[in-house]
Amino acid sequence: MNAPVKDIRVAEQPVDAQFLGRWSPRAFTDATLGEGEVQSLLEAARWAPSASNLQPWRFVWALRGDAAFARIADGLVPFNKAWAEKAAALIVVASKATVLKEEAEVANSFHAFDTGTAWGYLALQAHLQGLVAHAMGGFDHAKTAEAVALPANHVLHAVVAVGHRGDAASLPEGLRAREVPSPRLALAEISARGSFGA
Ligand SMILES: Cc1cc2nc3c(=O)[nH]c(=O)nc-3n(C[C@H](O)[C@H](O)[C@H](O)COP(=O)(O)O)c2cc1C
Repeated sequence: MNAPVKDIRVAEQPVDAQFLGRWSPRAFTDATLGEGEVQSLLEAARWAPSASNLQPWRFVWALRGDAAFARIADGLVPFNKAWAEKAAALIVVASKATVLKEEAEVANSFHAFDTGTAWGYLALQAHLQGLVAHAMGGFDHAKTAEAVALPANHVLHAVVAVGHRGDAASLPEGLRAREVPSPRLALAEISARGSFGA
């Protein structure tokens, strides 16, 4: 993507600046994060809406230097590990996929939808705190489940790298040119008044 950032991130309609300002860089500075900063991200996620207010989202987090950080980083695919292990924190996003009903665990079909909302809140809160949060689906599920002792009936969704935005020059060469905000589909491509039909 060679277009200047100002040309590829333009809102078609009036919207709060945070929605265009949040994006997913891969370069981090060496700066560490305090536990309280991570807790604020999780606090934002906690207030997401969910079906029947079941709040199925679950998070395991670790700061760089923690043994758990290394375990979670080891579950990332090599492409992601190369940059994400420099983040200040890694947050594993999971959900409880079932709900207890009449003494039996039954499927909660909204667990993924609701947990996606919670991750979105977390990402926007990171942006508001002057941090960057970059979600990754590229990880080994079995390794990561073991790393975080994932309970039964729980599902992994993503690992999120969080930290202070660094210089693109610190990235492996192949990633430097990709360190720019991305564009979006046109509003007319993703929405319609009345029905999806022409
Ligand atoms: C569920 C999910 C999985 C993703 N997986 C990866 C990944 O494995 N590696 C990566 O570099 N980026 C990953 N991304 C980042 C997306 O590529 C990025 O969010 C998307 O291109 C939009 O860009 P933006 O977040 O900068 O607006 C993922 C994002 C999400 C939400």
